[in-house]
Amino acid sequence: MSPSGGQGVAVVTGAARGMGAAVARRLAARGLTVALVDVPAEPPGRVAEVPGPYRPANGTDLDEATARCGGRGEAWAADVRDAAALGRVVDAVVERHGRLDVAVAAAGAVAGGAPSWETSDEVWSAMLGVNLTGVFHLARATVPHLLDAPLPRRGRFVAVASAAAHHGLPRMAAYSAAKHGVAGLVKALAAELGATGVTANAVAPGSTATPMLEASAALYGIDDPSVFAGQARIERLIDPDEVAATIEWLGLDAPDALTGAVVDVDGGFRA
Ligand SMILES: NC(=O)c1ccc[n+]([C@@H]2O[C@H](COP(=O)([O-])OP(=O)(O)OC[C@H]3O[C@@H](n4cnc5c(N)ncnc54)[C@H](O)[C@@H]3O)[C@@H](O)[C@H]2O)c1
Repeated sequence: MSPSGGQGVAVVTGAARGMGAAVARRLAARGLTVALVDVPAEPPGRVAEVPGPYRPANGTDLDEATARCGGRGEAWAADVRDAAALGRVVDAVVERHGRLDVAVAAAGAVAGGAPSWETSDEVWSAMLGVNLTGVFHLARATVPHLLDAPLPRRGRFVAVASAAAHHGLPRMAAYSAAKHGVAGLVKALAAELGATGVTANAVAPGSTATPMLEASAALYGIDDPSVFAGQARIERLIDPDEVAATIEWLGLDAPDALTGAVVDVDGGFRA
């Protein structure tokens, strides 16, 4: 039996609010110990703000999300762009609890607003850095621990991509490129992990009611993000808990045969 009582251990990035917080709450409710990782409240650990209106969570958000895990949550600070910091957090979690079962890469940020040929280096590197390299950093830090589990293994890596992993969003080329990259990364991971019992999948949400959607609207000069509801067949915004329910299922219930998939949670956007 592990020091965590055999119920499992999860690491969730971007867990201070939005989808990541909802995932953490759900995994904790299923009995897992959950390490909630989000961007440090202050520099130097906080690598940089992304250009434009998007603002990441603060320390209060992380504390509140951790409290909502009802004693099974632990707050950790790391910017996913900082591979060493993220690796230290993951190693410390495994050292403390003796195992890792589920890794969820939900941290993300949005920037853009200009056509791709006018996109600045700052926007390009922020979008690739948080949304793609951040997922790679989590995979590099966690997959060796998922593979360390005793046989029969049941490790799960789940990344949050986006409908922008299938579609090119105008004036969000860097974000779209990064999210397409997330789909490629999880497919390659799945191909590499093969029959190990560790799977790698992504979810691709459509417009979901979180602070990120407000920042996305602002990039288009739109005040009310609910206008994005018109893009979904369900004619409403998606609730972050609906995405979290899908991630919970991928993380705890889905069979080994489901690997290398990008699962749409987009209200029928692609239908
Ligand atoms: N909201 C949408 O409509 C939508 C649609 C498709 C995909 N997504 C994706 O869903 C994921 C979750 O986003 P959300 O909608 O819940 O937004 P959100 O802004 O509420 O949550 C994102 C979380 O990631 C954290 N984060 C940002 N940069 C970070 C960094 N460098 N290091 C560590 N943590 C960082 C933020 O502090 C925040 O807690 C993101 O990957 C996003 O790209 C969102």
